[in-house]
Amino acid sequence: MEIIKKESLITSYTNVNELPLQFVTLLQAAKEAVNTSYAPYSKFYVGCALMLKNGQIIKGSNQENIAYPSGLCAERVAIFYAGAAFPNEAVTHMAITVKARDYVVNEPILSCGACLQSMSEFETKFNQPITMILQGETGNIYVAEGTKTFMPFQFFVKELKG
Ligand code: THU
Repeated sequence: MEIIKKESLITSYTNVNELPLQFVTLLQAAKEAVNTSYAPYSKFYVGCALMLKNGQIIKGSNQENIAYPSGLCAERVAIFYAGAAFPNEAVTHMAITVKARDYVVNEPILSCGACLQSMSEFETKFNQPITMILQGETGNIYVAEGTKTFMPFQFFVKELKG
């Protein structure tokens, strides 16, 4: 018998001025993307901005549907667009931020499992961990190296890999 243990490290910043400028820019782009969210059902608005290896920023936001499961999270809207429009560019950073209509979110919100899984595909494809930058509407900013921080044991089958 053995215990398989993995550790996760998150750097938490209290002040945006402590962040590298590139991260601040990306977080600002994510906050802009919040304004394009279509979330009439949850009233929970998520904005995402990712950076490609060539420095280009792509934004996405959650898009809901009256048939609830047909909607899509902000992270997947952004990353699938990146995959479709720039299939040969690695994703190096992703900033995610949220705003709710009826309450203040003052802590970072972590991406859901389906988004982490979709993001991990890009990490594998380009052999490039995605630096994640997370903030609520206000409060601390989390920075983490790679999706494995939040989902250390991911679905991966080497025989399935193209
Ligand atoms: N949502 C995201 O955009 N990203 C996530 O990682 C989890 C949840 C969205 C989906 C839905 O529109 C709203 O947040 C409430 O679940």
